[in-house]
Amino acid sequence: MALEFSQESEARVKEVLDEYYNVESTVIPVLFIAADQFGAIDGEVCVLVAKRLGLDRMHVETVASFYTMVPKKPQGRYHIQVCRTLSCAMAGAPRLADHLHRKLGVEPGEITADGKFSYEEVECLAMCGTAPAMIVNKTNYENLTPEKIDQILDRLE
Ligand code: FES
Repeated sequence: MALEFSQESEARVKEVLDEYYNVESTVIPVLFIAADQFGAIDGEVCVLVAKRLGLDRMHVETVASFYTMVPKKPQGRYHIQVCRTLSCAMAGAPRLADHLHRKLGVEPGEITADGKFSYEEVECLAMCGTAPAMIVNKTNYENLTPEKIDQILDRLE
């Protein structure tokens, strides 16, 4: 059976469509709505989004695959994206990734047993001037050290 948006998701999609002038600009916000409902974006969800927006499936899949913030796999309640690109790598990002790996006890892309955290290493998050950087859900963190990561994660409920 083909996927469908829930009533709540459909209401959110309508709000987005009302807000944006150009339907192509709604792809990312609608993908986020779909991710909230389905947990991640796969080919089937892209078909649903494309159908709902009247766009080509390939267009939606291209957008989904390009942007690292569009979840391709289920994530923990707090999803951590650690930058591994040059500026962050030179400022100690590999040490941060190792620290997260040890602290959370899971591999990149996996979810902790309590469902609270997941993490992945991603390309540039556009905070190169204050590297190393990470994003937790939609919050940016910069000038990181392992100690700062501990403080940030310990504050999350
Ligand atoms: S290189 Fe890490 S934010 Fe740009």
